[in-house]
Amino acid sequence: MEIKLKEIHKEAEERIKQVTNKEELKKVQVEFLGRKKGKITQLLRNMAALPSQERPLIGKLINEIKGEIQKSLEVKRKQISKEKTEEYIDITFPGKKPKIGKIHPLTHTMEEIKRVFISMGFQVVRGPEMETEYYNFEALNMPSYHPARNEYDSFYLDNGYLLRSHTSPVQIRVMEKEFPPIRIIVPGRVYRRDAIDASHFPMFHQVEGLAVDERITFSDLKGVLTCFAHQMFGKNTLLRFRPSFFPFTEPSADLDIQCVICKGKGCKTCGRKGWLEILGAGMVDPEVFKKVGYNSEKYQGFAFGMGVERICMLKYGIDDIRLFFQNDLRFLKQF
Ligand code: PHE
Repeated sequence: MEIKLKEIHKEAEERIKQVTNKEELKKVQVEFLGRKKGKITQLLRNMAALPSQERPLIGKLINEIKGEIQKSLEVKRKQISKEKTEEYIDITFPGKKPKIGKIHPLTHTMEEIKRVFISMGFQVVRGPEMETEYYNFEALNMPSYHPARNEYDSFYLDNGYLLRSHTSPVQIRVMEKEFPPIRIIVPGRVYRRDAIDASHFPMFHQVEGLAVDERITFSDLKGVLTCFAHQMFGKNTLLRFRPSFFPFTEPSADLDIQCVICKGKGCKTCGRKGWLEILGAGMVDPEVFKKVGYNSEKYQGFAFGMGVERICMLKYGIDDIRLFFQNDLRFLKQF
């Protein structure tokens, strides 16, 4: 018995010495000290078969050996975990830079536009991208024979609807439901049958604005849009309101900023004009009020619409609209 014990002890120590990782160590532990089939455990169990005078001595011996094996296992365990630490954590090794996503420049510009108008008391509302001809044209004072319809060459759907060619139809939807005072902006996608080039894309984004109340004047329009342009492009940006035409506003104006590239001298970007158009606007046409049942003697309003891609391009000096939609990381990473 004693000899057998010593052999097992020797075997265990030998095995522990050869162990190189945690899993192996666990195996050795189970093999010798396991509760069911461990070699030492089994010996302890077989003690009952020994003559009673031998039992205390052998029992003591087994427990001593068990203790020693446990000690060796513990020493090895510490050794392994120490080696591991040294092997895996090199604190001088340069870290891996995580790739962090960025906000798309268009989203960023959209948020900025919204922030400016929200700070002036405008509410953000949205409308459907699939529209009827009534909302997209008729209610905006563009009957089917109106020549201006050509400017908004639209995508017609099989179900009689079309993809809205501007965000102005949402003006009508809001006025049909609400009474003045109204102060809203409408961000969203619009669609036009334009051939793709550096400044055209068949889908783009607009932000529409509408304010209706008693005694709203063209001065209010100028004040609000001047404040907007200054916040967007800087306080010292020169502006000009230039007469224009829209079927749903009268009078109408386009807002220009002094060319951000040449500062008014004339260059390729501004077509040698020194000015860049940033939005269209005007006083809501009484015909439009008539369509939504507002009394145009009592109420006046102003409306405006701007292209978000255009604003973003001018702000950051981007010269091709297609860059927004190609998902080229080399472009997107710069913002
Ligand atoms: N809807 C016009 C466009 O898409 C912009 C606009 C909106 C002009 C509101 C005047 C008033 O070109």
